[in-house]
Order: sequence, then structure tokens, then C-alpha cells
Amino acid sequence: MKTQVGIVGGGPSGLLLAHLLHLKGIDSVVLEARSEEYVVDRVRAGVLEQGMVDLLDAIGLGVRMHREGLVHHGINISFNGTLHNINFHELTGRAITVYGQNELQKDLNQAHRQTGRPVYYEVENLTLHDFDSPAPKIRYRYNDSDHELECDFIAGCDGFHGISRPSIPASAIQHFEREYPFGWLGILAEAAPASEELVYTWTERGFSLFSMRSPKITRLYLQCAPDEDINQWSDDRIWSELLRRLTTKDGWKPNVGPILQKGVTGMRSFVAEPMQFGRLYLAGDAAHIVPPTGAKGLNLAGADVYALSQALAEFYKSGSESLLGEYSSTCLRRVWRAQRFSWWMTSMLHVFGFGDDTAFDRRRQLAELDYLTSSRAAMTSLAENYVGFPII
Ligand code: APR
Ligand code: PHB
Repeated sequence: MKTQVGIVGGGPSGLLLAHLLHLKGIDSVVLEARSEEYVVDRVRAGVLEQGMVDLLDAIGLGVRMHREGLVHHGINISFNGTLHNINFHELTGRAITVYGQNELQKDLNQAHRQTGRPVYYEVENLTLHDFDSPAPKIRYRYNDSDHELECDFIAGCDGFHGISRPSIPASAIQHFEREYPFGWLGILAEAAPASEELVYTWTERGFSLFSMRSPKITRLYLQCAPDEDINQWSDDRIWSELLRRLTTKDGWKPNVGPILQKGVTGMRSFVAEPMQFGRLYLAGDAAHIVPPTGAKGLNLAGADVYALSQALAEFYKSGSESLLGEYSSTCLRRVWRAQRFSWWMTSMLHVFGFGDDTAFDRRRQLAELDYLTSSRAAMTSLAENYVGFPII
């Protein structure tokens, strides 16, 4: 089989790239290790920056997002039992949209299906070859037989645990990494959201986040150990800890309801540089991971694949490799800004550890939160980074 761009991974990066390329008249084939149901159902974050909303609108994929997504004009930061609102709209003129990644994935799957190009799900033993030449190949097993895909370029959109990044010779790629000594225990609950906007909460017992998915579904997180055993957390224990952390002095608290789903996620910051080797281009989680505190992961993936689609379009139109040559540095500028922001949000809101300087750090965090919620300059800085920088 032959195509122009072989795309490894059918998550948001891979499918959005396939659609962007389709709109430029460029052919691609998506190869995905898991089943379609698995990719759609796994629970992920749900905040779209304004730039991501603009991108989806520009390519005709915004209809359901506008119908079902929830536009938020700000967020709340809570500490010492008091909520403080940060109004993005007033500070930046921009907003965010809460729309689950699962929903976006469904929209992408449907759009891709309409292009008539298949996604090959449940491919096995995928390997990358000759990507330091003009004729890369992807070999894989599908339906119990071996296949080879010849292509001009490979897009590694296969997430943090994929094979694209490790296929690059170690001497040609550098990794920058920070692991955090905690994770998030997240739940989806059948309960109407008790606040119109998200609540990021600092407490002596650790961080907690109130979010939502729809007018009937609340999404909540609490800081836990990175290897927390979810089986130790009965629904009652989860609610009691969440209520303890989230309830404010004036009595605001999330509505309680049946827990539909629960899980633990680790937290890390990770960047691979450069995001390209020969004709293999990395995009999304394959190249970088941010802790979820800044809600940047999906948005970074969108910005990467938009830049890659522009660069490939230029190449196929004029033969110029100029945008392709700039791909990595273009993406990494945004990636490092998002890394800084996500690290900063994470550092400000979590209990870090049990070392000697913990008491100092707790006071420093409170001073930072006090400054943040009382200075228009500080709030504007948070707002500008949270709503994100333009993508298109
Ligand atoms: N062969 C084929 N597919 C693979 C392979 C492989 N060897 N390894 C992984 N994959 C697939 C995974 O099954 C997954 O569906 O690649 C896909 C990668 O998808 P994601 O992990 O969702 O990464 P990405 O598409 O870059 O999306 C980034 O996901 O983690 C969040 O916050 C992040 O929202 C952001 C988004
Ligand atoms: C979510 O709704 O899942 C969510 C929201 C904001 C974050 C992280 C996750 O920072």
C-alpha cells in the first residue's frame, strides 16, 4: 500500500492531522494499535483553548462542540476556604470551552470516515523504516497478515508510550523530564455541576479540582499518591475527601451523585527535542507531556498537527521544505511556554512532599495565591496563558 503521509496513532493528534491533510488534498493512512471503542472511551481532559475552538471552526468540525460544549469566561481559584474568580473574558477578551476529549474524538472519527479513508484499528507489531531517506516505510500486522505502507513522510502521533519517539536514534534526540511526587484521582459523577466555572483548590490536605462535562455530569479530581491504589477508595471515601477539600467557608460544595467512572493518573512534564528526525515528525503526546493542571495537552496536540499540516501542504504545493525545517522550533516555542505554565500551576497548588522546606513552601504558595488573586497583572498573566495563544 502507498500513501503520502503515514500516520501512526488514531488519537486526537493523528485524526486531526488526517483531516487537515485531507482538506489540503493530501492523502494519508492512519494506523492505530487499539480498537475504535477503546480510543473513544478512555477518559481524558476536556478544556479547549479559544485557538483550538477557532481551528475546529475553520475546518468545519465545530458544530457539535458549539451545541454541546460549555463556554467558560473564567475559572475560580480557592484557598483557605474562599473562592476567587479570574475573569478571562474581561482580562483577555477570550474564553475556553469545556468539551470532553471523547466527544472531540467522536467528531474526528466521523469526519474522517466521511473522507472515505480507512483508519486501520488494532494493528500490531508496527515498526518504522527508512525515515532518514525520501522513501519511509511502516510495517505492521493487520488481520493476521503482514503489511507494508510506503509513504513520503511519517507522522508519529502515537502518544507518550508509542514507538515513534523510541525509533529515533538516541544520539539524535534529547529528553527533558520532571516527575511529580503525586497523581490525580479523577471521577465522573452523575451530578449537576454546582458551579458554572472550574474550581482549582489549594488545601493543606492537597489539591482538588472541580470540573464538569455537561449540565448533568460533574468531573472531580483530588491529589493522591502517584501509585495510589484505586481499590482503596470506596465511593464514600472519595466523596468525603472531595467535600473536605472543596467545601468553602460560605458553604459552596459540589453536588454529590453516583460515581460513573474513577481512575488515577500520574503527573509528569516531558519534552523531546527536536520533534523531527529525517522524514519522521512527532506530534502531540509522542513529543511532550504536561501535567493536567494547566489543561494544555490536547491544545498542544492541535497546534502541532496544524503546523505540520501547513508545512506538508507547502511541500506538496511548491517542493519547499522551509516550513518542514522550522516545524520543530515552531512547535517547541509553544510547548515550552505551556510547560512553564503547567509546571507553575502545578507547583502553586499541590502539596509537594515531606521535606524540611515544606512549611516554607506552603507559606510561599499562599503568598503566591494571595498575589495572584489580588493583582490584575498577575491574573492577566494566568488568564493569557490559560486561554492560550492563537493557533491559526
Ligand atoms: N502503533 C499504533 N498506534 C499506537 C502505537 C503503536 N505502536 N502506540 C500507541 N498508539 C496509539 C494509542 O493507542 C493512541 O490511540 O496512538 C494513540 C495516541 O493517542 P493519545 O495518547 O491520545 O495522544 P495524542 O493523539 O497526541 O493526543 C494528545 O491526549 O493525553 C492526552 O492530554 C493529552 O489531550 C491530549 C491528547
Ligand atoms: C477536566 O475537566 O478533565 C479538566 C479540567 C481542567 C484541568 C484538567 C482537567 O486543568
